[in-house]
Amino acid sequence: MKHIRNFCIIAHIDHGKSTLADRLLEFTKTVGARDMQAQLLDDMDLERERGITIKSHAIQMNYTYQGETYTLNLIDTPGHVDFSYEVSRSIAACEGALLLVDASQGIEAQTISNLYLAMNNDLVIIPVLNKIDLPGAMPEEVKDEMVDLLGCERDEIIPASGKEGIGVPEILAAIVERIPAPKGDPNGPLQALIFDSVFNSYRGIEVIFRNVNGRIRKGDRVKFMATGKEYFADEIGTLRLDKEPKDVIECGDVGYLISGIKVAKEVKVGDTITHIEQPASSPIQGFEEVKPMVFAGIYPVDTSEFEDLREAMEKLQLNDAALVWEPETSAALGFGFRCGFLGMLHMEIVQERLEREFDMTVITTVPSVRFEVITTRGETLIVSAPADMPDPSSIDWIEEPFIKAQIISKAEYVGAIMGLCMEKRSILKNQVYLTADRVELQFEMPLAEVVFDFFDKLKTISRGYASLDYEFMGNRESNMVKLDIMLNGDRVDALSAIVHRDKAYEWGKKLCEKLRELLPRQQFEIAIQAAIGQKIIARETVKALRKDVLAKCYGGDISRKRKLLEKQKKGKKRMRQVGNVEIPQEAFMAVLKIN
Ligand code: GTP
Repeated sequence: MKHIRNFCIIAHIDHGKSTLADRLLEFTKTVGARDMQAQLLDDMDLERERGITIKSHAIQMNYTYQGETYTLNLIDTPGHVDFSYEVSRSIAACEGALLLVDASQGIEAQTISNLYLAMNNDLVIIPVLNKIDLPGAMPEEVKDEMVDLLGCERDEIIPASGKEGIGVPEILAAIVERIPAPKGDPNGPLQALIFDSVFNSYRGIEVIFRNVNGRIRKGDRVKFMATGKEYFADEIGTLRLDKEPKDVIECGDVGYLISGIKVAKEVKVGDTITHIEQPASSPIQGFEEVKPMVFAGIYPVDTSEFEDLREAMEKLQLNDAALVWEPETSAALGFGFRCGFLGMLHMEIVQERLEREFDMTVITTVPSVRFEVITTRGETLIVSAPADMPDPSSIDWIEEPFIKAQIISKAEYVGAIMGLCMEKRSILKNQVYLTADRVELQFEMPLAEVVFDFFDKLKTISRGYASLDYEFMGNRESNMVKLDIMLNGDRVDALSAIVHRDKAYEWGKKLCEKLRELLPRQQFEIAIQAAIGQKIIARETVKALRKDVLAKCYGGDISRKRKLLEKQKKGKKRMRQVGNVEIPQEAFMAVLKIN
């Protein structure tokens, strides 16, 4: 145990975690030059393309320092706010953290939120000033910010560049010297914290754990404490570039377990593994179930593909335990699924993975948060689909989820940010100057307002300088109403939204305008109406096409005709026929595009 160091890298998104991790792996020869490719730990295609880390990863390195060989377990964590539950679990598995700050950006919202998480878990923090190679780097100013934030000495901060490999030996030395070896009782009852899982289609789910107390041996009978399920430890081992099977994983170390588990739900990040004989008396503290925050319907474009979509969703869920779903029926779209996501980015990623990995073409409907509706009969209904909202006459009151949001920005944008937040029904709770020109603002705001377009707007008004982090705080009573959309007189349930009453008229009007832009012209006129209950509050019209498109192909030029039809078919890809109106995917998201 004396020679083990468990650490993670925490940073705001894009401050360079994955790149620095690559350099550490290279320097310690954990990967040879031949196997090296950029952002090695981001092994999902999507992660590479988008340049973001979605899942946490763990990898073990050996490093010889002053004649002694150490085992370093690195746990890479995602930076985006949608995936912060992965960060908190990873942090709980470590004794220390490298805190990276981009020398050209300075401290951002997730720098702080991740730092607090790390400090709450008593991690030793090694401050690293990253990307010092950038021409726009402001090393001295950013160091000032870091000293202020951390209360550390200036010379504790290690200047580095993951890109150029600067500072790597200093960082490795600091990991050994400053981060304590794990504590724990090697002879006590087993307590191993599950902080990640990976789906393997041949062998079942691989569980990644940190052994906090006791030791686990190959063949042991073990139990997951939150689910109560029992397994054999068929294979255990450590994580190098590939898995390395071992006979025992000692106290303090990080390892994987394979027991032929096929159901993703049985593996909960944060759960504790113990032995069936001589079990631990209690699990490791702090386990929280992941809660989806945003809900939307996912429907196949082609109704005959419903069963294929179900299969795809089942497979996807094995790899993404944060995704929840259940079948749903829409009068407009037929059979589909109501899905819960961690946030909008998660939702986009699910849609993209369904399309790429499972070759499905799907429509996602207007995202919504989860409301609690208290009826006049005293029942509490959970409503995440506007279609499920009961008639207003039977509603006593509605509660909506609120979050505590933390925004960090340059001081010059504070006015604009406050304006935006007020518009979003937020309450300013605190304002602190981190340095002379950087301010931290704390708001309480309705989650529904953040889910839509808040983040993009925040970035725009602050020219990219503001950053956001948030946590769920609870439900509050709000005056919400259901806004219905009708096309040629028919209510289209998949287009309706739940909005605040004060904004309902404005939204109804803007939504109709937006839909007029987004609905393609067809052979007939389309009337778009917004309604609250029986009352129509806005109307727009999409004019009919004047000519048949094929009329252009005079005579019998077959190939030209075919080309035109094919072109139309392609354009149709993400469209659904509702009644006699064709609705493209963008229209279902129109509510997000309203300014
Ligand atoms: P997430 O995984 O999405 O949280 O991002 P990350 O923090 O892992 O950042 P990543 O390593 O993916 O780097 C983000 C961008 O910064 C990439 O375009 C990198 O090439 C670039 N980058 C990373 N480190 C350095 C550095 O030291 N210098 C310069 N100039 N660019 C860097």
